Amino acid sequence: MIFSMESYRESFPAEIIFTSSDASLFKYFAYVSGENQELARAELESLLNLFPCDVETRWLNRVVILESHISPIEFLLERSALIQKAGVVLIEYNSNQWSKDMTPSDGWENYLTAGDEFAVRTLCIEGATNSTRERDRIEWDLGASIKNRTNARVNLKNPAKEILVILGPENILICESQNSKLRHLLRQREPGKKMFFHPSMMNSTLSRVMCNLAGVMPDDIVLDPFCGGGGILCEASYIGARPIGCDLNWKMLTGAKRNLDQIKGEYSLIQADAQNIPVQSVDCIVTDPPYGRASSTRGGESIELVSTLMSTASSILTSRGEHLCICGSSEMGLLEIAQKQGLAVGKHLRIRVHSGLVRELVTIVI
Ligand SMILES: C[S@@+](CC[C@H](N)C(=O)[O-])C[C@H]1O[C@@H](n2cnc3c(N)ncnc32)[C@H](O)[C@@H]1O
Repeated sequence: MIFSMESYRESFPAEIIFTSSDASLFKYFAYVSGENQELARAELESLLNLFPCDVETRWLNRVVILESHISPIEFLLERSALIQKAGVVLIEYNSNQWSKDMTPSDGWENYLTAGDEFAVRTLCIEGATNSTRERDRIEWDLGASIKNRTNARVNLKNPAKEILVILGPENILICESQNSKLRHLLRQREPGKKMFFHPSMMNSTLSRVMCNLAGVMPDDIVLDPFCGGGGILCEASYIGARPIGCDLNWKMLTGAKRNLDQIKGEYSLIQADAQNIPVQSVDCIVTDPPYGRASSTRGGESIELVSTLMSTASSILTSRGEHLCICGSSEMGLLEIAQKQGLAVGKHLRIRVHSGLVRELVTIVI
């Protein structure tokens, strides 16, 4: 059963009561971006922790097979910055069972009707040995078979529905697939396209991933104590959370205001020093402190700021768990700072921005 994002909070509790039998497990898939697979896997894992139903996962390179009583697809596509496409597994074959002449033709009427525009595409997982010719043939044959069965129209450029054949070394999955709409929206709201821009602003994709890693949910109060022009605050707001931003710099705060005013939603901006945060309780903290690359102390000051934040976070965060996510330059040594304070690190990831800059990202379990 598929829920709309607006209703998932209300709908799930009722659903969980009725999903106790393995007999009703359904298979889904998601295909993640190849830029940083470790980050994509971490994001998906965090999102599934927010999903109110157990989901089994099995990774096949960039494809993850998900087994669940309730479809996680709408939730994942709404939330994930790194999932490129996702959907329902309709038919699964063992690769040995699959013959080149096989074109499953039953049941398509449930998914496509006359006039629908569709395309069949193939996706090869590492280890699969299908040649380009074979893939073309699968696309052609399955497309023709579905068209005959349903009278739907083939549209390879801009199909409303996509049938994706995932070719793996052991299995072949025929799936109904949807492309991520969020990734297109994230590109439209990159810092350079916002009302206010500053080079120090966090890009929208990483801001969204960080919010996901910190488990931000709609209505949550999310703090960025070094909010700058509000890259992270904006993504928290798009999720439906209520962001609070602190910054020393007034110009940055007025910039963040201009950016946040483009999104409907509550927010607060405070001119304050992050070493003395004037906020008592929040649900999540998501932030990237100043990296201090250009400073004569070679990042020493930034380390102080992060240390202070890590040591005060537990008194500000209202619930226990992995709700603090910090991104810094690899020179800062976020992992070491956390370990020195005896804090439990949930995730520790490295992100190559360009040859000279590697970012480091940690989540802290409070
Ligand atoms: C890397 S930028 C933050 C980018 C921002 N998180 C975003 O999402 O776009 C760091 C910001 O920290 C601010 N800052 C530096 N020292 C600070 C302090 N002690 N307290 C609060 N803000 C500070 C700077 O003014 C700068 O705007």
